[in-house]
Amino acid sequence: MSAHDKFDELRRRHVEAELAGGEDRIRRQHKAGKKTARERLDLLLDPGSFAEIDKFVVHQTQDFDMQKQKILGDGVVTGSGRIHGRPAFVFAQDFTVFGGSLSEAYARKICKVMDLAMKTGVPIIGLNDSGGARIQEGVVSLAGYADIFLRNTLASGVVPQISAIMGPCAGGAVYSPAITDFVFMVKTTSYMFVTGPDVIRAVTHEAVSAEELGGATTHTTTSGVAHFAADSEEECLALIRELLTFLPQNNLEDPPLRPTQDPVDRRDESLQTIVPDQPNKSYDMSEIIRTVLDDRYFFEVQAAFAPNIIVGFGRLGGRPVGIVANQPAHLAGCLDINASLKAARFVRFCDCFNLPLVTFEDVPGFLPGTAQEFGGIIKHGAKLLYAFCEATVPKLTVITRKAYGGAYCVMSSKHIRGDVNFAYPTAEIAVMGPDGAVNILYRRETERAKDAAAFKEERTREYREKFANPYVAAERGYIDEVIEPKDTRARLIAALEIVRTKRDANPPRKHGNLPL
Ligand code: HXC
Repeated sequence: MSAHDKFDELRRRHVEAELAGGEDRIRRQHKAGKKTARERLDLLLDPGSFAEIDKFVVHQTQDFDMQKQKILGDGVVTGSGRIHGRPAFVFAQDFTVFGGSLSEAYARKICKVMDLAMKTGVPIIGLNDSGGARIQEGVVSLAGYADIFLRNTLASGVVPQISAIMGPCAGGAVYSPAITDFVFMVKTTSYMFVTGPDVIRAVTHEAVSAEELGGATTHTTTSGVAHFAADSEEECLALIRELLTFLPQNNLEDPPLRPTQDPVDRRDESLQTIVPDQPNKSYDMSEIIRTVLDDRYFFEVQAAFAPNIIVGFGRLGGRPVGIVANQPAHLAGCLDINASLKAARFVRFCDCFNLPLVTFEDVPGFLPGTAQEFGGIIKHGAKLLYAFCEATVPKLTVITRKAYGGAYCVMSSKHIRGDVNFAYPTAEIAVMGPDGAVNILYRRETERAKDAAAFKEERTREYREKFANPYVAAERGYIDEVIEPKDTRARLIAALEIVRTKRDANPPRKHGNLPL
């Protein structure tokens, strides 16, 4: 064979690999409203940056006549590329090849890019669209999944791991995305479940569609398994690109700076009136967050799940930060099981990847009720407490109004290593609200009083004056400074600058025992 023929042979193989499952199956994929693995990578990565590896890998199975069905690449496209100029490793499952099902060779390809991502300190992004374990391969395929799960676990906290679900993802296969840091789904074309609608119908006699059971809306509103639900594949991939702009490449780097024209000392009069005078009137905490952040831009995470707590990313003076905030507009901002889980995972992510935490607090306490107690609010609330306690990144807190009871301690208080703790003059820092306190402290006197209502009102006023303010805490140094709301941005940026070089560590140990 001449060199010319050899070059032709190489080109022929490239064309064959790129055709994957063939034109018919690509057409079917498009008809189902889905893009191919390569089309997705084109949208995810900077133009022309994709460097593919293992393009000619094939499976080695002999059973079920599989030796006659070898497709170059074997159903997953792997390699590296750039996102906003920074390197990323990627794998994209290709549904046009054996339904994107996972073989031994396929798993090895994924493990190879995961290992490279770990060694080079670069994020890894997986685009999932698969019928699960390659049925013809049996336990060898299961072994491949386990190899991936192990790497997901070892990479956790070392490099950011991002999963997009862009088709089926069922059975044990869901556990790779579940371990990763952020899960994106596409509405109507993706689903995730451990057991599907048919098995559920047979076992529990419940009738449920795949979309209801494990679609993007379910997982971003009810289960909290996924963080983002995109309307289209384009939107999903654009969101991943944007998320990465807030993140460092690995746990040893700082997040990337993005200079801003927004003045660091911008003072905003509108903040002076956002917190209402009446303690039980709600307001929208996200207004404060947006007003304070650079260019008023907030990239919210898990917006539709547990809306009584807000988490997400923004920048202060060009520096990315993680925001955690109680939302008085939902359940009065109470902490419940879902809010605790949502925020705990986010706090731990930020701590892994050197993102300072900025906490906005207005919390009347933990949500009462048997559903919460039977559901284990004790252990789930403990997760958020644990997460804030163990976090060693810079921690800034702003108490806007209520900071009651155990929730006061939990929400990045001074006592659990808050670095800079501000309060507005409207802050109320106490064991509980004035009404509840008077009910307990003066129960007998109220019963004996001639005018019980007037007696209670007077005691409540006294209590409010004494405790429902930030000054008792400020006198003890639990609050570093009481600030005017309009100064929040300037004060947070100045504080962030001061604690930028913070060094703190937890005692040496194998690992802590998070209350799971
Ligand atoms: C081998 C598979 C496959 C699989 C699909 N295909 N799943 N091949 N192993 N797991 C093939 C089909 O034979 C078909 O080949 C092509 O992929 C497309 O599949 P269709 O069924 O035509 O597509 P669609 O109607 O869109 O349905 C998609 C699907 C369905 C819902 C995913 O294929 C399905 O139910 N597949 C089986 C899912 C499953 O039970 N997997 C194992 C789960 S257990 P042709 O040649 O016709 O195009 C598991 C454990 C993970 O995954 C272990 C973790 C520990």
